[in-house]
Amino acid sequence: MKLLEKTKVGSVGLANRVVMAPMTRNRATTEGLVTKSMITYYEQRAGMGLIITEGVNISRQAIGSANTPGIYTEQQTESWKMVTEAVHKKGGKIFLQLWHTGRSSHSSLQQNGDLPVSASAVRIEEHKIPTPSGMQAYELPRALETKEVKDVVKQYGTAAENAKHAGFDGVELHGAFGYLPNQFLVDGVNKRRDKYGGSIENRSRFVLEIMQVLITVWGPGKAGIKLSPSIPFNGMIDSDPKALFTYLIKELNKMPLAYLHLMGPLFPLTEFPDWPSDVIGTYGSLFDKTVIANGGYTRDTAEKLIENGKAQLVSFASLALANPDLVKRFELHASLNKPDRNTYYSGGDKGYIDYPTLNQSLAPREQEPTLK
Ligand SMILES: Cc1cc2nc3c(=O)[nH]c(=O)nc-3n(C[C@H](O)[C@H](O)[C@H](O)COP(=O)(O)O)c2cc1C
Repeated sequence: MKLLEKTKVGSVGLANRVVMAPMTRNRATTEGLVTKSMITYYEQRAGMGLIITEGVNISRQAIGSANTPGIYTEQQTESWKMVTEAVHKKGGKIFLQLWHTGRSSHSSLQQNGDLPVSASAVRIEEHKIPTPSGMQAYELPRALETKEVKDVVKQYGTAAENAKHAGFDGVELHGAFGYLPNQFLVDGVNKRRDKYGGSIENRSRFVLEIMQVLITVWGPGKAGIKLSPSIPFNGMIDSDPKALFTYLIKELNKMPLAYLHLMGPLFPLTEFPDWPSDVIGTYGSLFDKTVIANGGYTRDTAEKLIENGKAQLVSFASLALANPDLVKRFELHASLNKPDRNTYYSGGDKGYIDYPTLNQSLAPREQEPTLK
């Protein structure tokens, strides 16, 4: 199978083309430190060619969800070393996903009860946010000042440096699903009048500046980006997403990146008939380095996509979450464990590090006592 072939992403060699997609699991300490269970979780999944970590907060202000890990303090950086060492020992490769949630946060999760920040003061209306005191309405965020935007770009750079110290193989910018970089991109949220707002070129500037900083820190072939051009979730409405993402991806293609990670639409686009539903087909061909396809792939649809040359790697989220030995199962065409949604973000080891491998499932059970 193509999916099981050795390959390279940027300048990093991979054992196969199966990628573990980034997944927030809310299992870190309240200080954003890695826990023992997190080491086990990633180590269990090191057979996948490339692991992309859960979103990792680049600063205190970036936090939008409780018990998510960080990479902005020395202690946090040290704690990640245990994960990278464990994954490398098993022959795996691991990139860290850099995360800033922007307006997708709440003052109760921020320092001193500050308001979350965004490109502009535009609130998320469509749903509520889980906070330590239950579900709450989103607040009106505070628009970052121009100087502050530069500071946030720098914070991405510092976080990327910390990721290097922690022993990662590279970094990915979370530019998808409605978080801060995505908030700068779309004109439904970005109403700025400075050089970060207005035209497509200006709205793309924040993302492009961050990627430039990541390349400066990591060198060529070690930084990737995840985008979701056809996902309106979190109020990511744009008047012309096709023009926006075409411009952005063409600009990204000029940079020495490791990959472009494209998330397909997870929901029907009935309300947005003009938005491309074939995200890989529409945007993948604009990028001449590695494309990672994501969004609902199975063993067979992933294999077909790679065979057709539309992507070089495919990432799996829920399947990787529930199947630590996903690659082995693909190889043997074995059945898959079903993911349990109730334990996605619940904390604790249940539904985190207790999904059985094939070997564990097939091991003879202890003799049941016979009833007489
Ligand atoms: C529990 C869970 C947490 C997720 N957290 C993140 C995240 O931190 N960063 C991110 O880019 N995507 C996140 N995603 C989205 C996945 O990376 C992926 O794009 C999406 O689930 C579609 O892939 P799939 O169809 O293979 O599950 C998460 C998905 C799940 C199921």
